[in-house]
Amino acid sequence: MSGELKVCEKKSGLRIAMIGAGYVGLTSGACLAAIGHQVVCCDINRERLKVLEAGGVPFFEPGLSEMTTRQIAAGRLTFSSAPEEAARDADAVFIAVGTPSGADGSIDLRYVMAAAEAIAPVLRSGATVVLKSTVVAGTAARVRDVIARVRGCSDVYVGSNPEFLREGSAIDDFMNADRVIVGADEPAAMSLLASIYAPLAERGIPVVGTATVNAELIKYAANAFLALKIGFINDVANLCEKAGADVRDVAGGIGLDARIGNRFLEAGPGFGGSCFPKDTRAFASLGAHFGAPQPLIDALIKQNDTRKASLARRIIDKTPTGGRVAVLGATFKANTDDVRESPALEIIQHLVKAGLDVHVHDPKPELAIAAIKGVEWHFDPIDAARSADTVAILTEWQEYREIDLNALADAMWGVALFDYRNLIQPQAANAAGLDLYPIGRPEAVRPRPVAGSGAGWTESLAALPER
Ligand code: NAD
Ligand code: UDX
Repeated sequence: MSGELKVCEKKSGLRIAMIGAGYVGLTSGACLAAIGHQVVCCDINRERLKVLEAGGVPFFEPGLSEMTTRQIAAGRLTFSSAPEEAARDADAVFIAVGTPSGADGSIDLRYVMAAAEAIAPVLRSGATVVLKSTVVAGTAARVRDVIARVRGCSDVYVGSNPEFLREGSAIDDFMNADRVIVGADEPAAMSLLASIYAPLAERGIPVVGTATVNAELIKYAANAFLALKIGFINDVANLCEKAGADVRDVAGGIGLDARIGNRFLEAGPGFGGSCFPKDTRAFASLGAHFGAPQPLIDALIKQNDTRKASLARRIIDKTPTGGRVAVLGATFKANTDDVRESPALEIIQHLVKAGLDVHVHDPKPELAIAAIKGVEWHFDPIDAARSADTVAILTEWQEYREIDLNALADAMWGVALFDYRNLIQPQAANAAGLDLYPIGRPEAVRPRPVAGSGAGWTESLAALPER
């Protein structure tokens, strides 16, 4: 479901400039247009802008292309390559540029500061600059200073509106957010932010106003907490493997406690993407900077970093030296083409380094192809698995959940299927003649028939526990 509002067909919303038209800027810009505002999305990346101006979307996000097309046609969404042009008449200028990790894990604010400098001279007096990029506490205050310095006076507001959307479900997350957090330190800026989100508030979505520095910290604390849930369940998964338990049942059991909640408890290859890894590093670094260390997050970062190597080792150990391995999935999660800090890419790199012949499939491989060398790409997962000694599912694409296991087994030479997203039923894998190595669940390795015992595969399989 797109979540796009039907009630806001008017063209007369607030004038909004969105600086940075990436996964967050373009999605937020299109959604703000869909709730009735006049939005100009601006990006200095010429390639991205060319695609946008031609009516396309320069990355894959379900439903976004249709949404931008509708908003362009409705006259509410336009594009610009010049931040100073986009910002000139705006009531609110959102900054949604990248905030990557610096070499020491702290946040690199250079794109935010450059955007602030670029728009500062042209802002209307009384306009509000809104930081949508994920930034550490105190950044809005720094941006306020930069703008005041460039303008020679303090006549614009700077607030915060952190974004919580996830790639792959970005539109729905924006339109049906659990809450919208707006941070402002002046009534005029708070009132503008409230007006921007009024159409969502009218639909019952809580729009929560707070001080700017609180809004900045809410974003980091939220991402750190969610990442902790994943790190925790991955440790529980390790324990389940040793104790003969099933992490999915354990997660389901604890998740029914409303105090815990059942989301973000899926064990897997560790968290990746453009946010959790860099945001946990920045959060830890911010804590160290303020003399308020975050030891839980420090431990989480280490645990998540080492997980990929240890999961790669399991595959290497079951593949003959120099053997062939097929990897299904390269993006950091399903329904995106994004490979930033993808656990799959890191595992692939370990496999290549171990001297294996690595064949990869992903339904949206363009960015992955550019990011990784030394592997062979395939358009079809079964083709990737042809003659493979081992196969590893690393991303939870629906296509892999529904894969024809008999065709997979027929294509392979070996029988080991690593399922690091727990998509495959053990009985189904065994019935197809495959041994299944899942995460946090008992391995489903078919008992080998003992010579002379008369026990064939069929009888042995019947003894496997039902799930
Ligand atoms: P992105 O790299 O996809 O997009 C950033 C865009 O900003 C790029 O296209 C870049 O060319 C453009 N840009 C940089 N400097 C500019 C300038 N001076 N003027 C105009 N454009 C400029 O990044 P993203 O994934 O959209 O993330 C943006 C911010 O949002 C980050 O702080 C990120 O942490 C945060 N965030 C991301 C997500 C997500 O799921 N990707 C979710 C929530 C928050
Ligand atoms: C995340 C946050 O969820 C979002 O609020 C924020 O705005 C941006 O960062 P995103 O990175 O798009 O969103 O994806 P998300 O669904 O959160 O997954 C992040 C990583 O955690 C992925 O690698 C995913 O596979 C992993 N994950 C997620 C798990 O391993 N288990 C889970 O239960 C959930």
